[in-house]
Amino acid sequence: MVGKEQEKQEKLVQNNELTFLCKAVNLYKSNNYSHDIIIIGDIMKRKKLKKGIIITTVVFLLIVISIVFTNIFNTGSKKYYSDESIKVIKEEKLKDIYKEDYSKTLDEVLKNNKLKIEFIEEYSKIEYIDDKNFIDKINDYLDIGYNGKEINNIFKLSEKNQSKLLDLEKKEFTKYIGITNFNIDNLERYNDYLKSTNKDIQTVVTYVNINLDKPFYTDSKLVDNPDDLTIIVNKFNHLEKKFVPKDLVTLFDSKNGAKMVRPAAEAYKEFIEAAKKDGITLESTTAYRSYSFQNTLYTNYVAQDGVKEADTYSARPGSSEHQLGLAVDLNDPNVSGSRLDDKDYKWVLENSYKYGFIVRYTEAGVPITGYMEEPWHIRYLGIELATKVAKSGLTYEEYYDLYMAEY
Ligand code: DAL
Ligand code: ZN
Repeated sequence: MVGKEQEKQEKLVQNNELTFLCKAVNLYKSNNYSHDIIIIGDIMKRKKLKKGIIITTVVFLLIVISIVFTNIFNTGSKKYYSDESIKVIKEEKLKDIYKEDYSKTLDEVLKNNKLKIEFIEEYSKIEYIDDKNFIDKINDYLDIGYNGKEINNIFKLSEKNQSKLLDLEKKEFTKYIGITNFNIDNLERYNDYLKSTNKDIQTVVTYVNINLDKPFYTDSKLVDNPDDLTIIVNKFNHLEKKFVPKDLVTLFDSKNGAKMVRPAAEAYKEFIEAAKKDGITLESTTAYRSYSFQNTLYTNYVAQDGVKEADTYSARPGSSEHQLGLAVDLNDPNVSGSRLDDKDYKWVLENSYKYGFIVRYTEAGVPITGYMEEPWHIRYLGIELATKVAKSGLTYEEYYDLYMAEY
């Protein structure tokens, strides 16, 4: 009860005070004030001043607090150096490190007591990689003479390339930085080829990878996965004599039993039908050829034109992609004297990839494939890959080496 009474009293006082103040303000506004009112006005002014001081103080404090926090945040990265690293920093008097941004690589180097003081500036340029031998590797690369930036590029190479690079005592990779198909196994050949040509370094690497620094048919490798639809068979990659592709089916338009591997044969039908719709008449001549058939063909050509000439248009047995069952030779029955006319060839160039084929032996590709231009010879790769290869404007050898080979 006493509490309630008190509350009532207080409210009454507050209300009276308010009423009084309101009156005072009105009088003050209408200049009709007395001495008492001036005093009240002063009180009000003082109250306002007090409020102002409080607000200013609060704002000031907020600013100070935010500055302190911002500073903590800015130096926050530095705070992340581990205690072990900080110990080394102090011991080695490396206070300047605090002025740099935090570097996980440097932190790990310091923490693991692997600091080589002469490389202090390079560590922080190296992007950290979660690899248990990372620190030893970077120290080894730094010892060889690579800088931080170069080391970042080295880590983009395959494991094999990276570890082989470590075996080299000299800094040999620098000029190949940025070349994605760099293969350390070919390093010496790149260097040699570079000396004997004015081709740019990227071309040199690709050509050497393809083996073009050697004469055709020297150092030809046996293809070990011939059923892979994307495989390369050429003057440096050959098939076993006994290799016969699986699932060969006769082409829908074949008059002589020409066969291709099933997906290629199906795509071929769609391709020919599409050509027909566009007024282009094409038909197959040969498609799959066994090793022995290719042997007969090549031997006859050699007898007719000699090896040098025959090699420009006929593959040696084992080296023809016709043996893969993925290539077909086209013919336009309405054209006499050659297999296709310019209109046919234009259509084939512009449309074959849409059905999964590429024109394998183009004029631009002669130095790479070693064959003269063959507008009629198309190779199945599947729509996705054929589209990429066709749009790249590269030979399949170049495309494969640049984008598909793993080094
Ligand atoms: N005419 C092509 C190159 C072959 O014989 O396979
Ligand atoms: Zn052919």
